[in-house]
Amino acid sequence: MINIFKNIFSSAPQEPPLIKTDLHSHLIPGIDDGSKSMDESIEMIEMFAAQGYTKLITTPHIMSHRYPNTSTAIKEGLQALQAELRVRNIAIEIEAASEYYLDETVMALVDKRDILTFGDNYMLFEMSYVQPLLMLEEMLFEIKVAGYKPVLAHPERYIYMYEEFGKYERLKEKGVLMQVNIPSFGSHYSKSIQQMAKKLSEAGMIDFLGSDAHKTPHLKALEHVKTQTVYSRIFEHNTILNNTL
Ligand SMILES: [Fe+2]
Repeated sequence: MINIFKNIFSSAPQEPPLIKTDLHSHLIPGIDDGSKSMDESIEMIEMFAAQGYTKLITTPHIMSHRYPNTSTAIKEGLQALQAELRVRNIAIEIEAASEYYLDETVMALVDKRDILTFGDNYMLFEMSYVQPLLMLEEMLFEIKVAGYKPVLAHPERYIYMYEEFGKYERLKEKGVLMQVNIPSFGSHYSKSIQQMAKKLSEAGMIDFLGSDAHKTPHLKALEHVKTQTVYSRIFEHNTILNNTL
């Protein structure tokens, strides 16, 4: 009988902690596939604030073939956004880093130490969704030698990694931190992405949770997922570092 109660209680989800810092979004207007206007950015930021966020680290793409942004352009965009928040009297802290699409251009920035980081020298990076990056381990080595701590954006979205879960474990062993998108735990992307997010959570492999908000529907998905049991479970299996930032 005692065991039955034990099982009932151990399966009851805990109230999840409030995530106050988001570290992955596209809020600087007009420089990537995120917000297209200042008004849209403000609307998204107000939706973050309504969900209890007090700090946003926004991460425009630096992707040489599609969004060839620079550190300077991102910093200028951030200043314009901060000025607009002051004008509108919206009290939320906002910083900028970048979501780096790993390639030779980004590695040249690493060589020059021209990387926009967040927190403890964390560098958010992404890769192709369709094919493995052949020189990945060499690139990660150089990134770490340069003093950066690589954080893989949305590991659940690289479908070619699904065949072998050991690929994720190997990246963790190489010192890569993992940032899963909260909307992935719902139906925002696809069933397979949802399943992989859950698998990474159950394996205790998640370090950061992000919104990856490009548009207002992402904020709605974010809010919805936070009401789900699968979201509470993340905090039972993983040490989530967002609120240390
Ligand atoms: Fe992103």
